[in-house]
Amino acid sequence: MLSTSRKAASLFLRTTPMTAARNMSWWSHVEMAPLDPIVGLTELFKEDSNPNKTNLGVGAYRDDNGKPWVLPSVKTAEKTVMDANMDKEYLGIVGDQEFTKLSIKLALGNDNPALERTSTVQALSGTGALRVSANFLKKFNPKAVWLPMPSWGNHTPIFGHAGLEVKGYRYYDEKTIGLDVSGMLDAISKIPEGDTILLHPSAHNPTGVDPTMEDWQKIEEVVASRKLFPLFDMAYQGFASGDLERDAFPVRHFVEKGHSIALTQSYSKNMGLYGLRVGALSFVCESAEEAKRVESQVKIIIRPMYSMPPSHGVRIAKTILKDNALRAEWEVDVKTMANRIIGMRHALVDGLKALGSNHDWTHITNQIGMFCFTGLNQDQVLKLREDYSIYMTKDGRVSVAGLTPKNVEYVAQAIHSVTK
Ligand SMILES: Cc1ncc(COP(=O)(O)O)c(C=O)c1O
Repeated sequence: MLSTSRKAASLFLRTTPMTAARNMSWWSHVEMAPLDPIVGLTELFKEDSNPNKTNLGVGAYRDDNGKPWVLPSVKTAEKTVMDANMDKEYLGIVGDQEFTKLSIKLALGNDNPALERTSTVQALSGTGALRVSANFLKKFNPKAVWLPMPSWGNHTPIFGHAGLEVKGYRYYDEKTIGLDVSGMLDAISKIPEGDTILLHPSAHNPTGVDPTMEDWQKIEEVVASRKLFPLFDMAYQGFASGDLERDAFPVRHFVEKGHSIALTQSYSKNMGLYGLRVGALSFVCESAEEAKRVESQVKIIIRPMYSMPPSHGVRIAKTILKDNALRAEWEVDVKTMANRIIGMRHALVDGLKALGSNHDWTHITNQIGMFCFTGLNQDQVLKLREDYSIYMTKDGRVSVAGLTPKNVEYVAQAIHSVTK
């Protein structure tokens, strides 16, 4: 047994290193990371005191007053959910299965025979679905993932952080500010067999440039002949054209042609459920039995990542998707958003023409969805920011949803003055 003084001494000896550990810095080697390009832009915007400041950076829908819009159909559905006074139990790893069935039907169509050989799990919106798909690919098809050039900025880190090699295929033509379809087909025809190709089925982010239906048929043929695995990132179904069926065409076409695919869906834009993180990840497989095996492994990936997805947002989404009247109301809301954006594209071009701009701005009205690649160069983008407090990403991408009847003339004047 230790004497009292020796006990005190041994305690002291043991506490000395701990005291040192309390005061030491564990993270002195951690460097300050750069700001996310879009979040950083919003921070600069907030600090700007110009009353005419305009944020065309952030990819979220805004109404005619520049305010976030909660869809009327979403308000109705949310009230139904709240009135039902539901419990807050865990949903399970794959999430709400009534929602996942409705979600994949929205993408593939109600009577698609491929539904039987598909596994769908709820996901933390589009980003979460992509990240789970990335981890799955890393485990079961750890080959390169090919992105269109350019692609949504988050795609590269999503697949890169999962440990996959990320490569790019030709997509956008800087000269025409449009799609380089022959360059794209040629690039895809050189992708090594077995690699994954990521495709944006509608409203390509960031360019707003989409292949036509005929282009999609050719793309499908090359993807098939190269034996590539197609991963569709569908973040804008309905939001692009206002037509949910039309925007799903590429996905349905590939499935009809017999491809096994992965599909990520987001309800951020088309239901405006951004912060509620509503999405889904599907694998359309070769057989129902294969889909079961795939799903069992997807669950193994999800469980240690976030255990189970949240319940509130999917309850709203499924209330809309399963009720015919509410769904029809939602489709009107989707058209309202798509049409307002299309209207703003025209208003911007009309404004530029009225000011006497002799540039060809037809790409602005030809492009589709929330984003527009203006063709402005980095110097012009910086001039717009410094002289007019108009904020957009360095690549000249504008979120058209940020334009309103009140600011579009000001933006047209500013763009005209930097492009004269
Ligand atoms: C192409 C694309 N994919 C996925 C997403 C994911 O969005 P969320 O995680 O909000 O669903 C976005 C959002 O901007 C996007 O543009």
